[in-house]
Amino acid sequence: MRKIVITGGAGFAGSHIVDEACLQYPDARIVVLDKMTYAGDVRNISHHVFSNRVQLLVGDVADLEFCRRAVKGATLVIHAAAESHVDNSFGNSLEFTRTNVLGTHSLMEACRQERVAKVVHVSTDEVYGEVMDGAAVEDDVLRPTNPYSSSKAAAEMILRGYIQSYHEPIVVIRANNLYGIRQFPEKIIPRFICHMLTGRRLPLHGNGSNRRHYLSTRDFARAVLFIAERGTVGETYNIGTSEEYTNLQMAELICDFFGRGVDEVVDFVADRPFNDARYSISWAKLQAMGWRPQHSLRDDLGMLADWYASNLDRYGELFDVAEAPVALQLAVPGAALSGLSLETNT
Ligand SMILES: NC(=O)c1ccc[n+]([C@@H]2O[C@H](COP(=O)([O-])OP(=O)(O)OC[C@H]3O[C@@H](n4cnc5c(N)ncnc54)[C@H](O)[C@@H]3O)[C@@H](O)[C@H]2O)c1
Repeated sequence: MRKIVITGGAGFAGSHIVDEACLQYPDARIVVLDKMTYAGDVRNISHHVFSNRVQLLVGDVADLEFCRRAVKGATLVIHAAAESHVDNSFGNSLEFTRTNVLGTHSLMEACRQERVAKVVHVSTDEVYGEVMDGAAVEDDVLRPTNPYSSSKAAAEMILRGYIQSYHEPIVVIRANNLYGIRQFPEKIIPRFICHMLTGRRLPLHGNGSNRRHYLSTRDFARAVLFIAERGTVGETYNIGTSEEYTNLQMAELICDFFGRGVDEVVDFVADRPFNDARYSISWAKLQAMGWRPQHSLRDDLGMLADWYASNLDRYGELFDVAEAPVALQLAVPGAALSGLSLETNT
């Protein structure tokens, strides 16, 4: 029987990979390896865990013996576990190196020792650094600029050694920023939505001119499994979208959705120590294989806002949920949201 291990599967992107794997491989044994940090939430995969579709193993990717037990007999390992928030990496960069570099190394060593048939490593467009014009292609030099992206690039260097020296069957993917339900509201889209839902102001870094591309996690998860099936060992694949916004445009989009003006609710706050002005990748290589994005943030924003409104209680420690119903009267434009259940959270 096919055994698929997904690290970080209780996190945001990982849980969408779990959904897609359950859909595409109904007969596979699916195992999630996750340390359950603040970013992991069993509710992200509880629908699969309670129906015995998915087995959750709680532990650290930096623990070699734990990884060996988890990946034993696996035909595919998808490595999505990471410390993922750039802002946190400025204050706690060693933890990023421990999880993202040592953790990746330990997992790869476990995969090598247990002879795992294929490994997909989830990396990020941030490893290319700033791309002001055009779009980075897979062979470009990596120029990371912050502790998070540096740790992701360092992990990729470890993988190069495993590919060249041990012929490990590794495929690397580098994705744009992702959006979707279940994203922890430290990242811009869920944070701004939760702030709007609870009547808070929106903090915008610098002058809001930094640009990012936003890819649906559903498209991303489809791409991950597509590459797991068809990607060539030793190769790297960008996964991207053409949907690009400055942070200010993102604030405008979300304000507009909630019927508010940027001038009314946005606070410009101190920027990061360094903040890449723009990321941009070409995904022509993947497109030539037959994949393309199918979703768009503009179309999905209502669904996202609806989900955060219905699940705001998850983030009660971040947002004083007891205040929410009052704020909602201010925030919700009317038609777009359905199934608001915040009254039950008071
Ligand atoms: N979210 C994005 O926009 C984006 C874009 C491109 C690439 N990525 C990459 O995708 C992957 C997933 O990102 P995400 O946004 O879902 O992150 P996330 O922070 O939402 O989830 C990370 C998961 O990893 C787990 N984890 C953290 N440290 C661990 C450890 N030491 N051992 C085992 N598990 C651990 C956490 O508990 C959590 O479940 C990361 O590798 C990230 O670099 C994310």
